[in-house]
Amino acid sequence: MRKGWLGVAAAGALAALTIAMACLDASVPRAKAASASAGKRAGGDQDDAAIAAVEGRLEAGRKTFRFETFGDEAFWGGTLKLHQAIEGQAHGGVGPGVSPRTALAVGLKVDVDALPKQVVDALEAGQVNLDDPATTLLLLKQNAVVGVTGFPDEQGNLRAIGIQCALCHSRVDDSLAPGVGHRLDGWSNQDLDVGAIVNLSPDLSAVASLLGVDEATVRTVLKSWGPGRFDAELFMDGKAFRPDGKTAATLIPPAFGLSGVNLHTWTGWGSVTHWNGFVANLEMHGQGTFYDPRLDDATKFPVAAAHQFGHVRNDPDRVTPKLADLHLYQLALEAPRPPDGSFDPAAAQRGDALFGGKAKCATCHVRPLFTEPGWNVHTPAEVGIDGFQASRSPDGRYRTTPLRGLWTHPARGFYHDGRFATLRDVVDHYDGLLSLGLSDPEKADLAEYLKSL
Ligand code: HEC
Ligand code: HEC
Repeated sequence: MRKGWLGVAAAGALAALTIAMACLDASVPRAKAASASAGKRAGGDQDDAAIAAVEGRLEAGRKTFRFETFGDEAFWGGTLKLHQAIEGQAHGGVGPGVSPRTALAVGLKVDVDALPKQVVDALEAGQVNLDDPATTLLLLKQNAVVGVTGFPDEQGNLRAIGIQCALCHSRVDDSLAPGVGHRLDGWSNQDLDVGAIVNLSPDLSAVASLLGVDEATVRTVLKSWGPGRFDAELFMDGKAFRPDGKTAATLIPPAFGLSGVNLHTWTGWGSVTHWNGFVANLEMHGQGTFYDPRLDDATKFPVAAAHQFGHVRNDPDRVTPKLADLHLYQLALEAPRPPDGSFDPAAAQRGDALFGGKAKCATCHVRPLFTEPGWNVHTPAEVGIDGFQASRSPDGRYRTTPLRGLWTHPARGFYHDGRFATLRDVVDHYDGLLSLGLSDPEKADLAEYLKSL
């Protein structure tokens, strides 16, 4: 193909292609695609087509974030048999079953918008039996348990369950009851006890053999996590505890407010889409393709290297076709603004000036991203903490956390492992580390500013 032709025609061809694709995609309203192709002003048709296409892709990405299991029910159901624990003996499974009360107690959330009106009315009237596992099965049938999907067999019994991104990275607004409300995508589920949920499995032998330990050890490790935590590196390096004996699990971070940010995860493993591929394949156990030869480092990642986790191939690949739209949707999730009255505006304003000045925070947390544009990671010494978690990642560093929406996750503390119980504790830490000489009122103002982001 001649280069000159390509140069002149590329823009037009791209526009035509985008429009054609938008028309093919049933989720884009035809009228919108048509108005895009009408091209009201010169140069406008391409812009409009791009925006129309993005709308459909955002919808697709949201669907993936909320509902896509990538085939991981083969692991959570087929291998771990978690569905049997949920059903309980009375419904063809094992053990007592999981009542809605137990499910809510381990931090699972119920999407009120998925429930039929009679069920909402009955819930409001207190007429739903929250102690009966049969009610949990009903909720699963309605697809109302956030981040968990039940797969029925021909008789309508549970054959398997699968999990989604929303399990860990969504909450609900508790509009109907604690744990029951409208979805809040991207919020870290600080109530979710992943370890307790996995521990319900009647058969953890697969995890035990992967890690080369016995099942009782796996159960002890899962119990040590606690709510709001998960250990994404355990399956890579087999390290369950830190040198000080505490759990190696980190906090579940929010999945909002990430656009414009280069590296992701607490330790900067890669971009959002790198991590999405990583999680979908290696943590959720979806069936896709994943490539990251850094996991071949047998000293750092003995489990991953032994099992070739950096070279995952599945046919069909159920992850890769979802990654582009999922990425787009995640970047579109803005950090929510703090509610009025949740912080003192005058103090926050004074804290704002300190953040950019005397307290030196903005040297790393560069506004408005609140992380560095560029290679946004630091050595443990630069932030004055131990290097255990950093050493479990390829670059041995900690990523400068983008700070928006801190107010949404105060329950489990701050920094990757929640070592600082409050924002004021974080400020005290920096005051000592950087010899800032902040007065008590200045520290309070800075903490108030952090609440306002
Ligand atoms: C079992 C809980 C769990 C599930 C399910 C899960 N994540 Fe995460 N996610 C975590 C934890 C824990 C981390 C922090 C990992 C780390 O730093 O090592 C994380 C980190 C992230 C980050 C980085 C956030 C930041 O601040 O940079 C993104 C983005 C993300 N997850 C997206 C997803 C997507 C998309 C899915 C679904 C494909 C998903 N996660 C599924 C627990 C989960
Ligand atoms: C040298 C760069 C650097 C400077 C300077 C810096 N930070 Fe940080 N900040 C980081 C890194 C890296 C992390 C992640 C640490 C971790 O997770 O263990 C972080 C984490 C945080 C967190 C925790 C976020 C969360 O979600 O848990 C807060 C809050 C914070 N910083 C506020 C501040 C304030 C306030 C200042 C100024 C007093 C400041 N930082 C100065 C790099 C920096």
